[in-house]
Amino acid sequence: MLNGKKILVAVCGSIAAYKSAYLVRLLIKSGAHVRVVMSPSAKDFITPLTLATLSKHECYVDYTNNHKTNWNNHVDLALWADLMVVAPASAGTISKMANGICDNLLMGVYLSARCPVFIAPAMDEDMWKHGSTKANLKKLQVFGNSVISVNEGELASGLVGEGRMAEPDQIVQYLEAALTTAELLSGGKISKLKGKKILITSGPTFEAIDPVRFIGNHSSGKMGIALAEQAYKLGAEVQLILGPSALSVIKGIKVTPVTSAAEMYQACKKHFPSSDICIFAAAVADYAPKSPSKQKIKKSEKEFSLLLSKNVDIAQEFGKIKRKQQLSIGFALETNEALKHAKEKLKKKNFDLIVLNSLSEQGAGFKLDTNKVTIIDANNKIAKFELKSKEEVAIDILNKIQNLV
Ligand code: CTP
Repeated sequence: MLNGKKILVAVCGSIAAYKSAYLVRLLIKSGAHVRVVMSPSAKDFITPLTLATLSKHECYVDYTNNHKTNWNNHVDLALWADLMVVAPASAGTISKMANGICDNLLMGVYLSARCPVFIAPAMDEDMWKHGSTKANLKKLQVFGNSVISVNEGELASGLVGEGRMAEPDQIVQYLEAALTTAELLSGGKISKLKGKKILITSGPTFEAIDPVRFIGNHSSGKMGIALAEQAYKLGAEVQLILGPSALSVIKGIKVTPVTSAAEMYQACKKHFPSSDICIFAAAVADYAPKSPSKQKIKKSEKEFSLLLSKNVDIAQEFGKIKRKQQLSIGFALETNEALKHAKEKLKKKNFDLIVLNSLSEQGAGFKLDTNKVTIIDANNKIAKFELKSKEEVAIDILNKIQNLV
């Protein structure tokens, strides 16, 4: 994914600067071309020689080079890059970036960059939680920059808390995933989802029969997780209500794990009022055993029947109380008369959009990495899409949502 990409790594003065060496090494290993620019104080933590050796190129610190007549042109360097990653980003540099204080080469490069910029902050917990840092980072997100979440753990001060820079492999993973987003594909334009609160349900639900058995379905949660990740990368604040799924979710997305439809409903109730957009991508079980057994059911009977009762229809319940400014998006999984059923669900559940996937389409359905969808809006306008990866399908869906925001 990063093979052949021109990546500019900006290193600030922070104890986490030692991790920049690993980051540069990983980027080079993945086939990227890397240039490094350092703030003057970064030299107190790591030498330009280390970063120059690892990046296989001269490392830039000042506008002028000692004993040379040429200079380091900040504009050339900025325009060279396909993407810029500031790692570690100290509180001081974050503040300068937010306020356009151009007092060193790194800042000159940042202000000249036209490419997407990613920021991996590193600082002590109190600095991280300070209102000033929060406000600066918010401002940078409004400028279109992406912030890579910090980790929690032991800090340079000896305190334990939030503020550790993301690990180099997490940064690389983030950059790789970000390359697929609409934001980068459209040249880093500011997304309309920036700052929006998005509630997403995903995965199956398991309805207990007894302590060891359940009624479930084949949903893996892939589509909902892809939506959550792409929305997050477009700057949204994502709350994912996730049924039992074996998949991992990138840091930065708030995940509420649930098991049953009833739990999913309760979790949604908590977050629905503050959400701007709700995407109901979960494959919720329609029925649950009416009285699950507290003990494991023994196979003594030759036959036995289970009495099931209908689960709450989560999307429909919130469709009834949806505010004018809230958007709700549903899915329909159909095997026959797909369009007819999807249009009925769109109306019945008061959706603004419904995403139809048909199990009869090859490459579409549970557990697969691809999907083929049709999106229908509230005016019954139909848009059909080709078979694509679930990440690309997520981008198509989010682009449709952006048109309604
Ligand atoms: N949905 C929900 N809660 C339920 C059932 C469905 O929130 N108890 C949501 C799904 O997440 C999806 C939409 O409603 O966005 C349609 O789900 P689907 O299973 O296709 O439809 P159902 O309403 O369950 O109808 P049926 O199973 O009869 O096709």
